[in-house]
Amino acid sequence: MAHRIAVIGGDGIGPDVTIEALKVVRAAGVDILTTDFDLGGARYLRDGEILSDSTLDQLRDFDAILLGAVGTPDVPPGVIERGLLLKMRFELDLYVNQRPFVGTAPGHMKPHDFIVIRENTEGPYVGEGGVLRKGTPNEVATQGSVNTRMGVERCVRYAFELAAKRQRKHVTLVHKTNVLTFAGDLWQRTFDIVAKEFPNVATAYNHVDAACIYFVQDPHRYDVIVTDNLFGDILTDLGGAVSGGIGLASSANLNPARTGPSMFEPVHGSAPDIVGTGKANPTAAILSAALMLDFLGENAAAERVRAACAEPAAGSTVEIANTIVARLGAK
Ligand code: IPM
Ligand code: MN
Repeated sequence: MAHRIAVIGGDGIGPDVTIEALKVVRAAGVDILTTDFDLGGARYLRDGEILSDSTLDQLRDFDAILLGAVGTPDVPPGVIERGLLLKMRFELDLYVNQRPFVGTAPGHMKPHDFIVIRENTEGPYVGEGGVLRKGTPNEVATQGSVNTRMGVERCVRYAFELAAKRQRKHVTLVHKTNVLTFAGDLWQRTFDIVAKEFPNVATAYNHVDAACIYFVQDPHRYDVIVTDNLFGDILTDLGGAVSGGIGLASSANLNPARTGPSMFEPVHGSAPDIVGTGKANPTAAILSAALMLDFLGENAAAERVRAACAEPAAGSTVEIANTIVARLGAK
């Protein structure tokens, strides 16, 4: 049976890279039935819709959601991010943000291969806090980080389950336990308890600032990393930068409990500065589609797509995708 995919091309380069990703999925022989959803900054400017509850309900019926990129310079920052992207992550309970990094960091000889598991529904992203006496010299702003035992545990367990299936079987917790003592303590204790269920998986802990150094100087130490929402956001941009650039960085927003669809999107944004130039690299979108294929049980096709993306391809957006399609055919 065909997999039913909701497609949100979005804004800027989003639609262009998404079309190429779908082309590659079909070339890999996977049967998909797509439905386009016109959402993002452009749609919002047209009629005010960001992501209504009825649209959200429609999305719930699909097997997966493929998203290009959202956001236009004409909409104030945060409106689309919170109203569309974060709303999907929270409402569809996409509690794992999985971001793989394979590449050779600048100054290194051999490639690294690690995966960041970022908690995707809690932390400072939930909007806890508020403002008092706004605009006065006595203004106060607070922005809390929400960490629940349930939320941390399910994310940490996912990281261990993933590591147990990988060759190295190693998980590093990244946090800032020396300063964020309440949240850090919850993460560390939960991590230690879950680790006992996985005696074959080795563990480590790094403070997030030290992890930034290791990403650049010693990325080979990592296999699976698990971390909170905000540290994971920042670390995965750095991960992209040391793994061939943001044009290759893919991500999966997963609901591992499968109570609804998961969502797949490149890490990069809508890049309004290069729209229409053909300069956008579709590889991040194509690799995100490969993560979607993994989650849909199409693992062989996903592997073939990844293999076809392993060597860099040159040219315009369409030319890069065509090269990848040609490599698939050549297998
Ligand atoms: C990401 C993005 C989002 C995030 C923004 C657009 C809200 O940076 O997916 O990494 O912070 O999670
Ligand atoms: Mn980010």
